[in-house]
Amino acid sequence: MRLRPLETNKEFTRTLMRERKIPGLVDFWAFDDLPTFEAWLRDCEIDLVVKPLGLTGGKGVKVMGDHLAGYPDVLEYGREILEGRIGGSPRFLVEEKVLGEEFSLQCLTDGKTVLPSPLAQDHKRALEGDRGPNTGGMGSYSDADHLLPFLSAKDRDAALSICKKVVDAMRKRGTPFKGCLYGGFMATADGVRVLEFNARFADPESMNVLPLFAGDFAEACAQIASGGLKTTWSFHRKATVCKYVVPIGYGTKALAGEPLAVDESAVAETGAHVYYGSVNEKDGSIVTTTSRALAVVGVAHALEKAEAQVEAALAHVKGNAYVRHDIGTAAAIRRKVERMNRLRGGKGS
Ligand code: GLY
Repeated sequence: MRLRPLETNKEFTRTLMRERKIPGLVDFWAFDDLPTFEAWLRDCEIDLVVKPLGLTGGKGVKVMGDHLAGYPDVLEYGREILEGRIGGSPRFLVEEKVLGEEFSLQCLTDGKTVLPSPLAQDHKRALEGDRGPNTGGMGSYSDADHLLPFLSAKDRDAALSICKKVVDAMRKRGTPFKGCLYGGFMATADGVRVLEFNARFADPESMNVLPLFAGDFAEACAQIASGGLKTTWSFHRKATVCKYVVPIGYGTKALAGEPLAVDESAVAETGAHVYYGSVNEKDGSIVTTTSRALAVVGVAHALEKAEAQVEAALAHVKGNAYVRHDIGTAAAIRRKVERMNRLRGGKGS
């Protein structure tokens, strides 16, 4: 089997983008020895993001001014990655830090045809107001027009065009990519930039888009496998909100073994769905592990309705656990729109 490390090797993906002149690339460098990195840092004048090359459960990326106070912290994190082989290899990536709002575009592809799903936005930080450590993702939302309130169709088209170029590049190098290509993007003042690609649906954003798929998903998967993915598949024009119920302390020191009582019929009456994640069964009860326990997803004609549906459902999930209640709220979304407008000088996109 040939390797297609779009997700498992961040350097591979960026090199592919650079070679094929695919837009959206942020300046990057890769290091595998500390003295070279230390010397390079001495002449550095930009803010940086440090990324292990491989998988870290969404917790490996560290950003200057956020998780890393300055160059000494950047150097120290480089050392940790090399010594601990964080992300699976003694090599890491350094990128220029870009400012903006993150968004996700998940595309189905048979290696040639690319079918985009609605845009969604994840919330990686553990605590309300986007504070606290990075996590695997605390919740996400998507809007009924398949864009996001802070994005224009032009941003979506730019992201989709990048995804199509990556799919073309993979086919042309003789390693066609089939499945779900998930692009993590940043909408910046100067357009759309790539943060990462993953060779799978995103978690939690899959729970935003899959309930909206209008048609026989198994048939679409068969078309992906055999080639001939139809572009006529569509997604319902509805908004979705997903909030994860996680153990107390998730992201730092999670409290496992806490019982959760889920009244599934009461949840169903609200119209929301429950998707179990990482839970155990103990003495007939569901208990938390150290990872995300369950997701509650609301689907409605408008974001406010989907968000209210999730909150109504969460009232029927009892236990010592944590939820980011701010996800998908009107106030949180207004702040994102205002931030994006400020960044783009009030010009929209
Ligand atoms: N939501 C980010 C991911 O699945 O990697």
